[in-house]
Amino acid sequence: AEHDELTAPIADWYADHARELPWRGADVDPWAVMVSEFMLQQTPVARVIPAFEAWLTRWPSPAALAADSPGEAVRMWGKLGYPRRALRLHAAASEITTSHGGVVPRTVEALRSLPGVGDYTAAAIAVFGYGERAPVVDTNVRRVLHRAVLGAADAGPTTTKADMALCESLLPDRPTEAARLSIALMELGALVCTAASPSCGVCPVSDECAWQLAGRPEYAGPPKRV
Ligand code: ADE
Repeated sequence: AEHDELTAPIADWYADHARELPWRGADVDPWAVMVSEFMLQQTPVARVIPAFEAWLTRWPSPAALAADSPGEAVRMWGKLGYPRRALRLHAAASEITTSHGGVVPRTVEALRSLPGVGDYTAAAIAVFGYGERAPVVDTNVRRVLHRAVLGAADAGPTTTKADMALCESLLPDRPTEAARLSIALMELGALVCTAASPSCGVCPVSDECAWQLAGRPEYAGPPKRV
């Protein structure tokens, strides 16, 4: 992979600074990853944790959820917001049960065909749930890469093929290391390289960051969604 001078310090930083979250870890179950990613789509981590624990206790598998009613899923979703996500997760669990033998699919392509699963979520489940090697590109990752590599203040409003290719070019060959880098980039974006007030003083790659080296110019891309 290119840009080892960026990726190695970020991976090291993650080893020391990552939050311990219940959907992370070497032997986490793909269904747990899937539930967490649905919940995290529009809800902050702190509010997701208790809902995630309760959900997995009640429905430890896609088949368990599919056997219950969509209304129960919405009720259990509780105050997470955007309850359509609960219906889509229920629909996805039903499809997994009827068409995939109850096993969460492993490939990005098969995952992508499930209700509620977009490009990011499909990649996250394949990579964090199964250890597949694929770029996992969310808003945080795009911002970190646009700053550190391209010298821009932020990424554009949507994920582009160039964003995907840039992330891919950074990924180590070994799937477990590639997965670690993706989660490390995400965590750096969430905790340090934030949108509104980045903490460049504690960033592991501030010396190599193209945005920092350019004097932190303002965002000059197309208008961002609000
Ligand atoms: N770990 C894996 N995916 C995540 C996400 N979307 N937000 C926070 N932590 C995560």
